Amino acid sequence: MHTLPGRLDAGEPGWTETVDVVIVGSGIAGLTAALRLRDQVDRILVVTKDILGNGSTQWAQGGIAAALGEGDTPDQHEVDTLVAGAGACDLDAVRVLVQEGAEAVRELISWGTNFDLDPDGNLSLTREGGHHRDRIVHAHGDATGAEIQRALNEAVRRAPEILVYEHTMVLDLVLAEDGGVAGLTVHVVGEGERDGVGLVRARAVLLAAGGLGQVFSQTTNPAVNTADGMALALRAGARLRDLEFVQFHPTVMYLGPDSHGQQPLISEAVRGEGAFLVDWDGSRLMEGVHELADLAPRDVVAKRIMQRMLETGHPNMWLDARHLGREFWERRFPTILASCESHGIDPATDLIPVAPACHYASGGVHTDLWGRSSVAGLYATGEVACSGVHGANRLASNSLLDGLVFSRRVAEVLPGELRPLAEPAADLRTVGALSGAGRRELQETMSLQAGVLRSATGLGEALADLDKLAGVDATALGPDAWETTNLITISTALTQSALLRQETRGSHWREDFPERDDARWAGHCDVTVGPDGALDVDFIPSPATDGAHA
Ligand code: SIN
Repeated sequence: MHTLPGRLDAGEPGWTETVDVVIVGSGIAGLTAALRLRDQVDRILVVTKDILGNGSTQWAQGGIAAALGEGDTPDQHEVDTLVAGAGACDLDAVRVLVQEGAEAVRELISWGTNFDLDPDGNLSLTREGGHHRDRIVHAHGDATGAEIQRALNEAVRRAPEILVYEHTMVLDLVLAEDGGVAGLTVHVVGEGERDGVGLVRARAVLLAAGGLGQVFSQTTNPAVNTADGMALALRAGARLRDLEFVQFHPTVMYLGPDSHGQQPLISEAVRGEGAFLVDWDGSRLMEGVHELADLAPRDVVAKRIMQRMLETGHPNMWLDARHLGREFWERRFPTILASCESHGIDPATDLIPVAPACHYASGGVHTDLWGRSSVAGLYATGEVACSGVHGANRLASNSLLDGLVFSRRVAEVLPGELRPLAEPAADLRTVGALSGAGRRELQETMSLQAGVLRSATGLGEALADLDKLAGVDATALGPDAWETTNLITISTALTQSALLRQETRGSHWREDFPERDDARWAGHCDVTVGPDGALDVDFIPSPATDGAHA
């Protein structure tokens, strides 16, 4: 086995910046934290890989779930979240999420987010898979993420005390003598004097860097989601958790056998408004499969679609939303309508071809209920983090809520916990970078062998491929090599975790262990880096079990 790089080979920093807190990422998690910290901390720097807000948040269609409707309660939202999570949620984290959700949504409104209202002027609420109540707030019909991102970007631009560096990719944490954070290294493109590799010294680092969607060939995630935050945390000694629980969205528009990268999402809210899945012969796909039929939790729907794709040999199934009518489509789902039309589909008259694609990482950097990781001074929120709210399968529209609620909590504790600015210690980690040329092969291997359907044989083949890619060093250093190194690192950790978990649970489907929710596997697969630089993947049983699987 090749050992993965202990830190990225990027050369010596050419410039240094010093701040109190550096926030990595500018989606809902990063900007919420920045806005809440601005009155409490002197120097806040947000670094973002592209331009402000160009990550996953702006692509979110469905909305934010919160118990805001008449008769709805946080307790009911809690039950739906726990059911979707298939026994792998952290109950305390879920309680925080559902109880603090409504207030957090109201704060978003106070920052200028315009959610859709009903004719009486109340928030318009819809329903998605796994919810037993209408509790999803949305904006401009199906452009919820874009509206939230607009409001947050404007609020941050109105706050001169928040410094923003765009076109800035994070490389690695810089550690102090005590193993806690002393800052991080970054690489900047096209920003004049700051161009190239720099050192940001900081008293705390908040990772809000999004997920790992680009690990797979087809994903709803934008190109920036190359698992950078998870990989750098792992290399710095942080504990990652639940990486095997990758959610595949059931209804992503199928664009043909050569489609690759970010694919168009058809929001679950379309099914929430009455659309249904059909097989090639026109029969209803979800009838009799689950009591919630087309609104079953999304792992159930994704698996059903995959199952029929395998049985019939077709590369997709179909979504029928023709009966919603042209006027409804224009008013309620203008973004999806435009996206369908750009691919020659009129959803008011045509069936929409759909297939599952990677959508969301339920696992990530393990944190407590206040976003603290296992490395002193390193915090994480949003998709990069794993507080345990999503368990084995995230409930629809709980992701924006997660970023929002837990960023507010980080901002509550972080100012009182700031470490003194530390000197960077001598860094003894091995240095390396892997060839970017292997990225496409990695994505294809991961989709084929570690995607919706998994088995020991397939996962073993994936690990062999990953090991081969880990043996090819970069000939040119730069973002392509660094991103690919991060993708190989996290793919390896994910695949090893998926191999270890010998059961089917939530979004983790083992064909060779079809028994669902096996009590012996109630617990978590944690990944750390051992002293020899190799990945350690351990099963940590939940307190209620005896860990008898071993
Ligand atoms: C969707 O709109 O279907 C996606 C919502 C989510 O991922 O929570």
